[in-house]
Amino acid sequence: MPNPKKIVSEQTFLQSFKLEELSEANFRLISMAKEAALKAYAPYSGFRVGVALMLENGEIFQANNQENVSFPVGICAERLVLGYVHANYPNLAPIKIAIAANRAAEENSQATVSPCGLCRQTINEYENKFGQPIEIFMLGPNGQVFQASGIGALLPFKFDDLNQ
Ligand code: THU
Repeated sequence: MPNPKKIVSEQTFLQSFKLEELSEANFRLISMAKEAALKAYAPYSGFRVGVALMLENGEIFQANNQENVSFPVGICAERLVLGYVHANYPNLAPIKIAIAANRAAEENSQATVSPCGLCRQTINEYENKFGQPIEIFMLGPNGQVFQASGIGALLPFKFDDLNQ
């Protein structure tokens, strides 16, 4: 019987929590993502995504998706906040990002959200630049929270190095 070598690292993991089980700081980060979702500009999909990102100095930045009548021009909340913080604080590592979404303008229309492929690769870029994982909190319905300890949990066998 062949004994295949495991090539996907188990160092990063995905866990599920209830909102009330989170630390105060993580609960606050998720609340800020929820708040940002309600300000999204999503007239075409109606899917409003909000994020709150914490830098290593504890500062928190919020963003949301910004759509465009030419659909591919729109940008996801995650890439918007990551681009903004890295443009303005290029020497501070992002350490946590919380993501929340709504299907409509009302607060009670919470949708499950997990970052798209482009955003995963973008999170990976900044993890690599700073040499440390970015924790990802994804809010689901009914107060369920998924927590990835780093992008490896969402993007296994990822593309990292042009010279590999
Ligand atoms: N979107 C995000 O902003 N982040 C995600 O994690 C998932 C998708 C946006 C893109 C588009 O404006 C809308 O949600 C529907 O796909």
